Amino acid sequence: MKPAHLAIIMDGNGRWAEQRGLPRGSGHKEGAEAVRRVVRYARKSGVETLTLFAFSSLNWGRPSDEVADLMDLLLRFLDEEKQEMLDRDIRLTAIGERDYLPPAVRTALADVELATARCRTMTLVLAVSYDGRRDMVEAVRRLTDMACRGQLLPADVTEQQIMGALSTRRLPDVDLLVRTSGEQRLSGFLPLEACYAELYFVDKLWPDFEEADLDRAFETYAGRQRRFGLTPAQLDTQLATVPA
Ligand code: IPE
Ligand code: IPE
Ligand code: MG
Repeated sequence: MKPAHLAIIMDGNGRWAEQRGLPRGSGHKEGAEAVRRVVRYARKSGVETLTLFAFSSLNWGRPSDEVADLMDLLLRFLDEEKQEMLDRDIRLTAIGERDYLPPAVRTALADVELATARCRTMTLVLAVSYDGRRDMVEAVRRLTDMACRGQLLPADVTEQQIMGALSTRRLPDVDLLVRTSGEQRLSGFLPLEACYAELYFVDKLWPDFEEADLDRAFETYAGRQRRFGLTPAQLDTQLATVPA
């Protein structure tokens, strides 16, 4: 089984560049090539939703020239990949604090989102200026606003309502979460959406990540038993009763 929703923390661009005595920006540039590769291959592999952590809210704290490099790359990516996404029937959406992005990036995002809105083969979600806790704050604001208007009573708050107030409301839960570069943490990525995801950590730095690495992640995922709290015996019974 392939994961329907694959989420990737693309980490290690800086180290990739440092290991070669290059400026960090070169690592990000090479990282953008890996993004193109992985988007294509994920689509080919039948992934329905691919969410990429491209820039975290905390990344605004990096040196301003690095932030500018990253915003430039994002702009170039959107510009260059628009036609490619249309050709490959990929819908692009973004999550994160859009208001903080440079106006040119905001405009390009909105443009590609609109242009690809009817594409259906895969949804590519770019997490830019994203942080899970900040997204939760926004969700709580939405719900408390409804409560203040008398549209929501405390007793009526459900899991669905909370998930439905997040920026990821239209996305399915994450099935497989991959992080490159050897770090084993979430860094604020999709805390509620990936709360039952399979986690896969790989030592390779993001610019070196290629199709075969994704295949290995898929194989590992296929070999895992997702029990969702049940016992293996219960799952066997369930499988046995599912009509072929
Ligand atoms: C990931 O690579 C890209 C972003 C966070 C934008 P890093 O830039 O974090 O690379 P390392 O972790 O410093 O090697
Ligand atoms: C997480 O990577 C964010 C992205 C990959 C965009 P970081 O490199 O910023 O995360 P930390 O600082 O190692 O937790
Ligand atoms: Mg990093």
